[in-house]
Amino acid sequence: MTDEPESGVHPKNKLNSLSGKEWLYFLASVEGTAYPVSGPESYGHALRRVHPSPKPPQLMRRLMEFFTKPGGWVLDPFCGVGGTLLGASLCGRNAVGIDLEPEFLNVYRLVCGAEGLAPQISVEGDARHLAEMPEVAGRQYDLILTDPPYAGMMTRLQSGEKKKKTGLDAPTPFTQSSMDLGNLPYAEFVSVLRDIISSALPLLKSKGHLVVFTKDLQPTVEHHNMLHADIVTSFRQISGLRYRGCKIWYDKTVNLYPFGYPHAFVANQLHQYILIFRKETS
Ligand SMILES: C[S@@+](CC[C@H](N)C(=O)[O-])C[C@H]1O[C@@H](n2cnc3c(N)ncnc32)[C@H](O)[C@@H]1O
Repeated sequence: MTDEPESGVHPKNKLNSLSGKEWLYFLASVEGTAYPVSGPESYGHALRRVHPSPKPPQLMRRLMEFFTKPGGWVLDPFCGVGGTLLGASLCGRNAVGIDLEPEFLNVYRLVCGAEGLAPQISVEGDARHLAEMPEVAGRQYDLILTDPPYAGMMTRLQSGEKKKKTGLDAPTPFTQSSMDLGNLPYAEFVSVLRDIISSALPLLKSKGHLVVFTKDLQPTVEHHNMLHADIVTSFRQISGLRYRGCKIWYDKTVNLYPFGYPHAFVANQLHQYILIFRKETS
Protein backbone atom coordinates (compact mmCIF):
# COMPACT_ATOMS: atom_id res chain seq x y z
CA MET A 1 0.00 0.00 0.00
CA THR A 2 1.45 3.35 -1.00
CA ASP A 3 0.91 5.37 2.22
CA GLU A 4 1.73 2.50 4.58
CA PRO A 5 3.95 3.52 7.53
CA GLU A 6 7.05 1.57 8.71
CA SER A 7 5.05 -0.36 11.35
CA GLY A 8 2.65 -1.51 8.66
CA VAL A 9 -0.37 -0.25 10.63
CA HIS A 10 -1.89 2.94 9.26
CA PRO A 11 -2.03 5.68 11.96
CA LYS A 12 -5.70 6.33 11.07
CA ASN A 13 -6.66 2.67 11.37
CA LYS A 14 -9.19 2.60 14.23
CA LEU A 15 -10.57 -0.83 13.36
CA ASN A 16 -7.70 -3.29 13.76
CA SER A 17 -3.94 -3.74 13.98
CA LEU A 18 -3.39 -5.15 10.51
CA SER A 19 -0.91 -3.87 7.98
CA GLY A 20 -2.26 -2.60 4.66
CA LYS A 21 -1.24 -5.88 3.02
CA GLU A 22 -3.04 -8.00 5.65
CA TRP A 23 -6.13 -5.77 5.33
CA LEU A 24 -6.09 -6.23 1.54
CA TYR A 25 -5.92 -10.04 1.73
CA PHE A 26 -8.92 -10.10 4.07
CA LEU A 27 -11.04 -8.25 1.49
CA ALA A 28 -11.21 -11.33 -0.79
CA SER A 29 -14.84 -12.39 -1.00
CA VAL A 30 -13.94 -16.06 -0.69
CA GLU A 31 -12.11 -17.53 2.30
CA GLY A 32 -10.95 -21.08 1.46
CA THR A 33 -9.64 -23.09 4.41
CA ALA A 34 -8.55 -26.65 5.20
CA TYR A 35 -7.82 -26.52 8.92
CA PRO A 36 -6.57 -29.78 10.52
CA VAL A 37 -9.17 -31.83 12.42
CA SER A 38 -6.60 -33.79 14.43
CA GLY A 39 -3.37 -33.01 16.29
CA PRO A 40 -2.39 -29.81 18.13
CA GLU A 41 -3.49 -27.50 15.30
CA SER A 42 -7.08 -28.79 15.62
CA TYR A 43 -7.59 -27.10 19.01
CA GLY A 44 -9.46 -29.98 20.59
CA HIS A 45 -11.55 -30.89 17.55
CA ALA A 46 -11.79 -34.50 18.80
CA LEU A 47 -13.68 -33.18 21.85
CA ARG A 48 -15.54 -30.40 20.05
CA ARG A 49 -16.96 -32.75 17.43
CA VAL A 50 -19.71 -33.84 19.87
CA HIS A 51 -21.30 -30.67 18.49
CA PRO A 52 -22.88 -31.07 15.04
CA SER A 53 -21.24 -27.95 13.59
CA PRO A 54 -18.21 -26.61 15.49
CA LYS A 55 -16.42 -23.66 13.88
CA PRO A 56 -12.63 -23.68 13.43
CA PRO A 57 -11.10 -21.38 16.08
CA GLN A 58 -8.51 -20.22 13.50
CA LEU A 59 -11.26 -18.89 11.22
CA MET A 60 -12.90 -17.04 14.11
CA ARG A 61 -9.50 -15.65 15.05
CA ARG A 62 -9.03 -14.33 11.51
CA LEU A 63 -12.36 -12.51 11.68
CA MET A 64 -11.61 -11.06 15.11
CA GLU A 65 -8.21 -9.85 13.90
CA PHE A 66 -9.95 -7.82 11.21
CA PHE A 67 -12.92 -6.51 13.19
CA THR A 68 -11.21 -5.73 16.53
CA LYS A 69 -7.94 -4.58 18.03
CA PRO A 70 -5.99 -6.65 20.59
CA GLY A 71 -7.76 -6.57 23.96
CA GLY A 72 -11.15 -5.93 22.29
CA TRP A 73 -14.39 -7.54 23.50
CA VAL A 74 -16.43 -9.99 21.41
CA LEU A 75 -19.91 -11.38 22.10
CA ASP A 76 -21.19 -14.70 20.70
CA PRO A 77 -24.85 -15.36 21.68
CA PHE A 78 -24.78 -18.90 20.15
CA CYS A 79 -21.31 -20.10 21.13
CA GLY A 80 -21.73 -23.91 21.04
CA VAL A 81 -18.45 -25.63 21.95
CA GLY A 82 -16.63 -22.32 21.69
CA GLY A 83 -15.13 -21.74 18.23
CA THR A 84 -15.37 -17.98 18.84
CA LEU A 85 -14.17 -18.17 22.45
CA LEU A 86 -11.13 -20.27 21.52
CA GLY A 87 -10.38 -17.98 18.59
CA ALA A 88 -10.44 -15.00 20.96
CA SER A 89 -7.88 -16.66 23.24
CA LEU A 90 -5.62 -17.32 20.24
CA CYS A 91 -5.41 -13.62 19.37
CA GLY A 92 -5.52 -11.80 22.70
CA ARG A 93 -9.18 -10.75 22.55
CA ASN A 94 -11.80 -11.12 25.32
CA ALA A 95 -15.02 -12.96 24.65
CA VAL A 96 -18.37 -13.75 26.21
CA GLY A 97 -20.36 -16.69 24.87
CA ILE A 98 -23.91 -17.88 25.53
CA ASP A 99 -25.38 -21.28 24.73
CA LEU A 100 -28.52 -23.12 25.81
CA GLU A 101 -26.77 -26.45 26.15
CA PRO A 102 -24.58 -26.89 29.28
CA GLU A 103 -22.86 -29.92 27.75
CA PHE A 104 -21.44 -27.77 24.92
CA LEU A 105 -20.08 -25.26 27.44
CA ASN A 106 -18.51 -28.09 29.46
CA VAL A 107 -16.77 -29.36 26.33
CA TYR A 108 -15.46 -25.84 25.68
CA ARG A 109 -14.02 -25.66 29.23
CA LEU A 110 -12.45 -29.13 28.83
CA VAL A 111 -10.77 -28.01 25.60
CA CYS A 112 -9.40 -24.92 27.37
CA GLY A 113 -7.89 -27.17 30.05
CA ALA A 114 -6.41 -29.53 27.46
CA GLU A 115 -4.99 -26.64 25.39
CA GLY A 116 -3.68 -24.67 28.40
CA LEU A 117 -5.93 -21.69 27.61
CA ALA A 118 -7.63 -19.55 30.28
CA PRO A 119 -11.40 -19.89 29.66
CA GLN A 120 -13.33 -16.89 28.40
CA ILE A 121 -16.70 -16.04 30.00
CA SER A 122 -19.33 -18.61 29.04
CA VAL A 123 -22.95 -18.38 30.15
CA GLU A 124 -25.65 -21.03 30.01
CA GLY A 125 -28.98 -19.56 28.93
CA ASP A 126 -31.40 -18.49 26.24
CA ALA A 127 -29.97 -15.73 24.04
CA ARG A 128 -33.45 -14.12 23.98
CA HIS A 129 -32.61 -12.89 27.50
CA LEU A 130 -29.02 -11.76 26.90
CA ALA A 131 -29.70 -8.16 27.93
CA GLU A 132 -30.73 -9.41 31.40
CA MET A 133 -27.59 -11.54 31.92
CA PRO A 134 -25.16 -9.70 34.22
CA GLU A 135 -22.08 -11.48 32.76
CA VAL A 136 -23.14 -10.30 29.28
CA ALA A 137 -24.74 -6.89 29.70
CA GLY A 138 -22.13 -5.26 31.91
CA ARG A 139 -19.94 -4.00 29.04
CA GLN A 140 -19.79 -2.69 25.47
CA TYR A 141 -18.53 -4.95 22.69
CA ASP A 142 -16.36 -4.19 19.67
CA LEU A 143 -17.80 -7.11 17.74
CA ILE A 144 -20.72 -9.52 17.84
CA LEU A 145 -19.50 -12.63 16.05
CA THR A 146 -21.94 -15.50 15.92
CA ASP A 147 -22.98 -18.70 14.21
CA PRO A 148 -26.66 -19.21 15.03
CA PRO A 149 -28.65 -22.32 14.07
CA TYR A 150 -29.47 -22.54 10.34
CA ALA A 151 -33.27 -22.37 10.79
CA GLY A 152 -34.51 -25.97 11.04
CA MET A 153 -31.69 -27.53 8.95
CA MET A 154 -30.53 -29.87 11.72
CA THR A 155 -34.03 -31.19 12.34
CA ARG A 156 -34.17 -32.73 8.83
CA LEU A 157 -32.98 -36.20 7.81
CA GLN A 158 -29.20 -36.11 7.44
CA SER A 159 -27.38 -36.81 4.19
CA GLY A 160 -23.83 -36.45 2.86
CA GLU A 161 -21.12 -35.63 5.40
CA LYS A 162 -23.28 -36.16 8.52
CA LYS A 163 -24.58 -39.52 7.28
CA LYS A 164 -21.07 -40.63 6.31
CA LYS A 165 -19.63 -39.72 9.74
CA THR A 166 -22.36 -41.38 11.80
CA GLY A 167 -23.68 -44.03 9.39
CA LEU A 168 -27.17 -42.74 10.32
CA ASP A 169 -29.60 -40.41 8.62
CA ALA A 170 -31.49 -39.42 11.78
CA PRO A 171 -31.73 -35.63 12.36
CA THR A 172 -29.10 -34.11 14.69
CA PRO A 173 -30.80 -31.09 16.30
CA PHE A 174 -28.47 -29.03 18.52
CA THR A 175 -30.80 -29.64 21.49
CA GLN A 176 -34.30 -30.97 22.14
CA SER A 177 -35.28 -27.66 23.78
CA SER A 178 -38.23 -25.62 22.55
CA MET A 179 -36.01 -22.56 23.24
CA ASP A 180 -33.50 -23.80 20.62
CA LEU A 181 -33.81 -21.55 17.57
CA GLY A 182 -32.86 -24.56 15.45
CA ASN A 183 -36.19 -26.16 16.33
CA LEU A 184 -38.29 -23.24 15.03
CA PRO A 185 -40.06 -23.07 11.67
CA TYR A 186 -38.09 -21.04 9.07
CA ALA A 187 -40.01 -17.73 9.20
CA GLU A 188 -40.22 -17.74 13.00
CA PHE A 189 -36.49 -18.51 13.21
CA VAL A 190 -35.67 -15.44 11.08
CA SER A 191 -37.86 -13.17 13.16
CA VAL A 192 -36.64 -14.46 16.57
CA LEU A 193 -33.02 -14.13 15.40
CA ARG A 194 -33.74 -10.51 14.39
CA ASP A 195 -35.23 -9.80 17.82
CA ILE A 196 -32.19 -11.28 19.60
CA ILE A 197 -29.80 -9.21 17.49
CA SER A 198 -31.92 -6.08 18.15
CA SER A 199 -31.66 -6.73 21.88
CA ALA A 200 -27.86 -7.11 21.60
CA LEU A 201 -27.34 -3.95 19.52
CA PRO A 202 -27.26 -1.51 22.49
CA LEU A 203 -24.27 -3.54 23.77
CA LEU A 204 -22.34 -3.00 20.51
CA LYS A 205 -20.12 0.08 20.27
CA SER A 206 -20.94 2.64 17.60
CA LYS A 207 -19.15 1.55 14.36
CA GLY A 208 -18.79 -1.93 15.86
CA HIS A 209 -19.51 -4.88 13.58
CA LEU A 210 -21.98 -7.73 13.66
CA VAL A 211 -20.72 -10.82 11.80
CA VAL A 212 -23.16 -13.70 11.29
CA PHE A 213 -22.44 -17.14 9.80
CA THR A 214 -25.24 -18.82 7.94
CA LYS A 215 -26.06 -21.46 5.35
CA ASP A 216 -28.87 -21.78 2.81
CA LEU A 217 -31.35 -24.65 2.90
CA GLN A 218 -32.33 -26.64 -0.18
CA PRO A 219 -35.01 -24.81 -2.17
CA THR A 220 -38.60 -26.04 -2.01
CA VAL A 221 -41.61 -25.32 -4.19
CA GLU A 222 -42.81 -22.81 -1.59
CA HIS A 223 -39.62 -20.80 -1.06
CA HIS A 224 -36.06 -20.35 -2.36
CA ASN A 225 -34.76 -20.91 1.22
CA MET A 226 -31.78 -18.60 0.68
CA LEU A 227 -31.50 -18.05 4.42
CA HIS A 228 -28.60 -15.63 4.01
CA ALA A 229 -30.78 -13.34 1.86
CA ASP A 230 -33.75 -13.61 4.22
CA ILE A 231 -31.55 -12.71 7.21
CA VAL A 232 -30.17 -9.63 5.42
CA THR A 233 -33.71 -8.56 4.43
CA SER A 234 -35.03 -9.11 7.95
CA PHE A 235 -32.14 -7.26 9.63
CA ARG A 236 -32.96 -4.16 7.53
CA GLN A 237 -35.71 -3.60 10.12
CA ILE A 238 -33.09 -3.16 12.87
CA SER A 239 -32.61 0.55 13.24
CA GLY A 240 -28.99 1.70 13.12
CA LEU A 241 -27.63 -1.52 11.57
CA ARG A 242 -26.30 -1.48 8.02
CA TYR A 243 -25.42 -4.46 5.82
CA ARG A 244 -21.87 -4.05 4.48
CA GLY A 245 -21.47 -7.20 2.37
CA CYS A 246 -20.40 -10.78 2.81
CA LYS A 247 -17.59 -13.24 2.56
CA ILE A 248 -18.05 -16.85 1.51
CA TRP A 249 -16.30 -19.43 3.67
CA TYR A 250 -15.33 -22.40 1.53
CA ASP A 251 -14.47 -25.35 3.76
CA LYS A 252 -12.18 -27.53 1.64
CA THR A 253 -12.44 -30.43 4.09
CA VAL A 254 -16.09 -31.10 3.14
CA ASN A 255 -16.56 -33.95 0.65
CA LEU A 256 -18.74 -34.04 -2.47
CA TYR A 257 -21.78 -36.33 -2.60
CA PRO A 258 -23.75 -37.39 -5.71
CA PHE A 259 -27.07 -36.04 -4.41
CA GLY A 260 -29.80 -36.38 -7.03
CA TYR A 261 -27.66 -38.47 -9.41
CA PRO A 262 -28.68 -39.50 -12.07
CA HIS A 263 -31.99 -37.66 -12.01
CA ALA A 264 -31.68 -34.04 -10.91
CA PHE A 265 -29.37 -31.22 -9.90
CA VAL A 266 -28.93 -30.97 -6.12
CA ALA A 267 -26.18 -28.55 -5.00
CA ASN A 268 -23.48 -29.69 -2.57
CA GLN A 269 -23.15 -26.84 -0.09
CA LEU A 270 -19.41 -26.61 0.57
CA HIS A 271 -19.65 -23.02 1.75
CA GLN A 272 -21.21 -20.82 4.38
CA TYR A 273 -22.03 -17.11 4.25
CA ILE A 274 -20.30 -14.69 6.58
CA LEU A 275 -22.68 -11.72 6.67
CA ILE A 276 -21.13 -8.43 7.77
CA PHE A 277 -23.12 -5.55 9.28
CA ARG A 278 -22.03 -2.35 11.04
CA LYS A 279 -23.72 -0.33 13.75
CA GLU A 280 -23.95 3.17 12.35
CA THR A 281 -25.40 5.03 15.34
CA SER A 282 -24.55 5.16 19.04
C1 LIG B 1 -24.33 -23.42 14.75
S1 LIG B 1 -24.22 -23.76 16.46
C2 LIG B 1 -22.84 -22.79 17.00
C3 LIG B 1 -21.54 -23.54 16.93
C4 LIG B 1 -20.38 -22.77 17.44
N1 LIG B 1 -19.98 -21.75 16.49
C5 LIG B 1 -19.18 -23.66 17.75
O1 LIG B 1 -18.07 -23.36 17.31
O2 LIG B 1 -19.38 -24.64 18.44
C6 LIG B 1 -25.62 -22.93 17.15
C7 LIG B 1 -25.73 -23.03 18.65
O3 LIG B 1 -26.83 -22.24 19.08
C8 LIG B 1 -27.32 -22.82 20.29
N2 LIG B 1 -28.65 -22.25 20.53
C9 LIG B 1 -29.82 -22.52 19.90
N3 LIG B 1 -30.81 -21.78 20.41
C10 LIG B 1 -30.28 -21.01 21.39
C11 LIG B 1 -30.82 -20.02 22.27
N4 LIG B 1 -32.11 -19.69 22.27
N5 LIG B 1 -29.96 -19.40 23.12
C12 LIG B 1 -28.64 -19.74 23.16
N6 LIG B 1 -28.09 -20.68 22.36
C13 LIG B 1 -28.89 -21.31 21.47
C14 LIG B 1 -27.26 -24.31 20.02
O4 LIG B 1 -27.22 -25.05 21.24
C15 LIG B 1 -25.98 -24.44 19.19
O5 LIG B 1 -24.88 -24.82 19.98
